Amino acid sequence: MTERSCLSVILAAGEGTRMKSARPKVLHEVAGLPLIGHVVKAARSQEGVDVAVVVGREAEAVRKAVEPFAPQAEVFLQAERLGTAHAVLAARDSIARGYDDILILFGDTPLIEPAALADLREGLAAGADVVVMGFHAADPTGYGRLIMRDGALAAIREHKDATEAERAIAFCNGGLMAVAGRHALSLLDAVGNANAKGEYYLTDIVEIAASRGLCVAATEAPYESILGINTRLELAEAEAVWQERRRRALMLAGVTMAAPQTVHLCHDTEIGEDAVIEPNVVFGPGVTVAPGARIRAFSHLEGASVGPGAEVGPFARLRPGAQLGRKAKVGNFCEVKKAVVEEGAKVNHLTYIGDARIGAGANIGAGTITCNYDGFSKHHTEIGAGAFIGSNSALVAPVTIGAGAYVASGSVVTHDVPDDALAFGRARQENKEGLGRRLREKLGSKAVK
Ligand code: UD1
Ligand code: CA
Repeated sequence: MTERSCLSVILAAGEGTRMKSARPKVLHEVAGLPLIGHVVKAARSQEGVDVAVVVGREAEAVRKAVEPFAPQAEVFLQAERLGTAHAVLAARDSIARGYDDILILFGDTPLIEPAALADLREGLAAGADVVVMGFHAADPTGYGRLIMRDGALAAIREHKDATEAERAIAFCNGGLMAVAGRHALSLLDAVGNANAKGEYYLTDIVEIAASRGLCVAATEAPYESILGINTRLELAEAEAVWQERRRRALMLAGVTMAAPQTVHLCHDTEIGEDAVIEPNVVFGPGVTVAPGARIRAFSHLEGASVGPGAEVGPFARLRPGAQLGRKAKVGNFCEVKKAVVEEGAKVNHLTYIGDARIGAGANIGAGTITCNYDGFSKHHTEIGAGAFIGSNSALVAPVTIGAGAYVASGSVVTHDVPDDALAFGRARQENKEGLGRRLREKLGSKAVK
């Protein structure tokens, strides 16, 4: 199979007007990744596959979304939207290079799985000239219907062009197709636009191929893997399917989730064995959770790495650049941004740590704030191993607290603190004997009710 050369043509020029959005449809996201990103990722999951993407408006933005997964992808512009066959032909130059297999994918089907693509290509390898991915729809309205004759696929009829009898067919066109490279251009060039929409339908190549005596086959995939997105409702449906799929995979890989349906993952969330994810945790992009770590309820993480056995939350926020070492702890109502919290260090209550390094075993008291921003620039706070920062301290960066140093609670620290020193950065306390009682009497006598 891998010896066969393959080009994936991904159609992404559709206007997606039913999304009611200023954004092109294929740039809407599932699991934090644009729809087109999911499709390109699936296309590239097979070895050695070249990718051509056909785009309409905002070509540059679509190209950017494709790049991380297929840096070599060729991008073609379909200036006028004249139908799916017309769109494929925008990639004529790529197709003409001569591939064994041409896979045609839609940019709005983010749930397709590598197995479905392999299945289509196996059909070609087994001798078919065109293979269509079908599915059984509970409600087939709107989809092209697969017209089977004697076990072979004879035609695809678009909903608008179908007769009553054809509309009763529940076996639908999922949109994915594989075409033998040597026939692709001649089939596509033969497509006309005499139909209800006046468009060049890709689906017509089935009937054309059959009339030429070519071998046309249909295969089937579950609806959940080829669901196409035309509205925000379908976007949410796809998100739910994706989340469910990924959570299952993680749990089967050894991650505990007591209430999995409340855990929201991102396309690139990595979680190690024996990690525990409590209910209502949200993962943004770029998060890695090491084995044995625990993310407690209602935490929000993005761009962060959590070390082995570390604990986060409940109600914690890890922002980009937060790196928690082995057995580090970031507790309730704490925010950590662009900061390393080394092994065993604790940031347990109501604290903001930004642009900092917290040495191993240091203890950051409740309400500590690293004052990292002066309105123009960000500054670094360095806290040595084993340091103890008393509650309600403001560390005005740039500043260094030495290893083993103490900062008295309530301090505003503006100068570096040497190793093992004790810093007081607060007004000295004075007690005035009896003054409390006298004040109370004075205020009481003047009280206005
Ligand atoms: C298409 C199929 C239908 C199938 C359904 C599955 C055709 C004619 N119909 O219908 O049989 O059941 O998908 O979801 O193929 N696009 C372009 N340029 C165009 C037109 C479309 O790039 O000129 C792209 C769109 O961005 C989209 C894809 O092609 O990614 C499919 O187009 P869409 O209009 O969504 O087709 P459907 O009506 O859903
Ligand atoms: Ca569609």
